[in-house]
This record gives sequence, C-alpha cells and structure tokens, in this order.
Amino acid sequence: MSFHFPFGLASGDVSHDSVVLWAKTDPGASVSWRCGDAEGTATSDPKTGSVHVLVEGLDAGAQYSYSFSSGGELIEGRFRTIPTDRGVRFAVLCCAKYNSGFFNAYRAIADMDDIDFVLELGDYIYEAAEVPTGKQTPGAGIGRPMDPLGNCVTYKDYDTRYALYRRDTDLIALHAKHAMIATIDDHELSDNAWEGGADEHDPATEGPWSDRVRGAMTAWSDWMPTLRRPQDGDVVWREIDLGAAGRILLCETRLKRSDPNTPQGVTKTALGAEQRAFMLDKLAEGGDGWTFLAVPSMLSDLDHAIGDEEALFALHKLKLAEADSPKDFHDLWDSFEWEQNQLIDGVARLPRAVALSGDVHFSAEFASTRDGAVFDEWTVTSITSPNLDDKMGWPRAAKSLDYEAALLRNLPDMRWCDLDSHGFLIVEADPQFASCQWWFVDQVRAISNDVTMGHSVALPAHPEGTTS
Ligand SMILES: [Fe+2]
Repeated sequence: MSFHFPFGLASGDVSHDSVVLWAKTDPGASVSWRCGDAEGTATSDPKTGSVHVLVEGLDAGAQYSYSFSSGGELIEGRFRTIPTDRGVRFAVLCCAKYNSGFFNAYRAIADMDDIDFVLELGDYIYEAAEVPTGKQTPGAGIGRPMDPLGNCVTYKDYDTRYALYRRDTDLIALHAKHAMIATIDDHELSDNAWEGGADEHDPATEGPWSDRVRGAMTAWSDWMPTLRRPQDGDVVWREIDLGAAGRILLCETRLKRSDPNTPQGVTKTALGAEQRAFMLDKLAEGGDGWTFLAVPSMLSDLDHAIGDEEALFALHKLKLAEADSPKDFHDLWDSFEWEQNQLIDGVARLPRAVALSGDVHFSAEFASTRDGAVFDEWTVTSITSPNLDDKMGWPRAAKSLDYEAALLRNLPDMRWCDLDSHGFLIVEADPQFASCQWWFVDQVRAISNDVTMGHSVALPAHPEGTTS
C-alpha cells in the first residue's frame, strides 16, 4: 500500500501519439511525472487530489513506462500507444458489481503482456445499495460490502463508491498495466437511466435528476484517466483510430436517451441526434481495416426468444424481458427499434464491421444475414455482475445449459452463448482478419487465477458473399 498514492495510477484515452495519465494523492500536492523521455510537474486538484496529465508527441505502437512521485514516494505503470501500421489486440469488458464478486478477471487482464489497451463498455461501478432498494440483485455475501452502504445519489456518494473500487488490488493492477478507454452505461448513474431520470430515481426524495447526473459524472471524470467532462457538456462517445487495423466507434447511450415511455419510432433515441448522425455517417463511410461499433448494450434482437417458455424464464431472470410479462425489457435496444435497425444495417453493409457489446451479463456470438450482408456481434459477459447461475444459486454450467439451448433454438442469429461464466473478450484486428476470444474466470466468489478460453471466432477480411 502506497502512502501517497493509495489508489495506484492509471492511463487512458490512449491514441497513436498521446495518453492521459492519472494519479490521486494529497489535495494541492506538487507531483512530478515522467513518461518515456518526457517529464514535468503538476499540482493535484485542491479538492480531490486527482492529477490528470495529457502527454503528447509519443511514438505509435510503443510501450511506455510512466511514473508519478510525490512526498518522496514513486509509483510506476506502463501502457502502449496504438499502432498505426500493424494489427491491434485489445480487451473488452463491462459490468463489475463490487459486492457480487472478486475482480479475478481484472487480474487476468493485468497479467497479459500482449494487449494494446482495454475497452470499458460501462457499468465500471454500480451505484446500487448493499441491500438493493429497487429491482437490482443483492450482492453475493462474500465480505465485499458496498461503500457507501446506500444508493449513490450525491457527488460524495459516487466519489466514495469509486474510492472503494479503486482500492481493489486487482483493479489497481489492471490500471497500472494497461491504458483504458471507457464509455459509461446506466450504473455509472442509476439503474436504467435516461436523459430525464431513471427507474430508481425519485426526485421527491433524491432531488433533481440533473444534480445526480452532475455529481455522478463529476466523480467519473475525476477518477478516470480521461479529460472528458460530461458535467461540462463534453460528449463521452468518440472514434478511436486504430491505424491500419481500422477504428472503434465507441457509443454512449444514457445521457441523451429518450424517456422509456416514448412510443417506438424515429423520435425514440438511445444515442441522441448528434451522436446518431456521427455514428451512421462513420458506418456509411467505412474506411480501411475494420470498424468496431462498440455499444454498451447488446444490439441483436431478442424478440423471437420471448415466445418460448424456457427462453423467457432465462430472459426474466436476467432482466431482459419485462417482469412477469412476455414483453421486451424497456431498457434494451429492442425498445429503440428504429435506431437499432439503422445501426445493425450500417454494420451489416460494411464488409469489415462488427458490433461489440455487453450489459446483458452473458456471453454471445451473433451472425445474422440481412439483405445478403452479414451482421456480426460479439457480446461480453460481466466481470462479476450476477448472471443466470448466480441469480438462481445453481452450479456453473449445469442447469443453465437447458436455457442456453432454448435461446439458441429460438434465436437463429445467435451462434453461441454462455449464460454463467464471467470474464472478458480479447479482440484482435489487422487488415486481413478480425478475431474474438471469450475468456472466462473459473469463479468470482473467491480469489482465483484460473482463466480459460471458452469460445473463439475469426472473420476473414472478405466474408463470403461480399466482393469488396
Ligand atoms: Fe451491468
């Protein structure tokens, strides 16, 4: 444990030639930093003690060591800049509920030497109370209580929650080893959040939603290795240039999201007009290499599964269909049909494009044919958030197998799924091919370093049926 840097250090928003370095120390402290040959000094934020340093002029595709020092103490980390002229390899992850499990998956990624960066699809924290006050699932009772114990509502609550997460030694190790590029999902704010509120936000007792969003986003930008400040109007979504390998279009679906009661149609949006125009333009434009549309939540349709009793049971348990009703869950893309179809068609039309997604707390591979083109989607499971066996108290990969079979039977576009495992994706892309590996930890209820690859898929640059 570091005395002056109790939360370690982090790097993020890395590009071919720049990075944001982060540390947190005593408020108003003088901090020296070094990154490769560059060095400088900074003063930590007088209120929070955070330091964010933008370092530019770096070489592409290079590994860098960096350090912060203050009060006679030095702390070191490393990251890689994104290459311009070769393939990339990155981890994809989401959904880390602190009281549901140990961050074994973060440790496994920290132990990997051959990835360029980490892509975080959201639910990096959960705002929920230790004993949930709404429809959220209780923790696993493994001695990792939430702090604060109640729901995060104010800036101070969210700040305390980030501090809890960032004292976790596995998460400290992940940040010290790899740069992270993050978007947000609902739990950085509140369960099933949209622009004007959330299922579990009560303005009568918790105050204006805009105040809660401001507090949550102020804490996010203070704790994350990023210069994006959504509370001051910055957008979270962005394009990440992967050089010869292509690009990632990283989406954000909460801050401009329509009221869930809005009827289906062109006015119902998860992205907001500005982001949607940007993403659809980029999908229409394509470009060399691969285009990864990274969305916090799974894009593929679950409609056909809700007519089947077993499939519906699994969807209910995972909160993917409305409770006790065979209706699409209002928080999923199926409730944003018009925009969902625009994005799916945009990805399908590009010969080298894949959607990357998470949020549903299971793993899946989709490949659907639309007008002769193929829409591929790779969905990552949770780091720790409860999946089917956790919710049911079943052993892993036992009873859930029947429900996996039911989903596969009813969803012809779903090529593979796993409803129980926790872990992350390793995605690799170069001009010739793109591939994905689903990596799983053996458990989350105890510390373990056992990881195995559960599934993989590779796509050639020119999928069957396309000529470009
Ligand atoms: Fe989640």
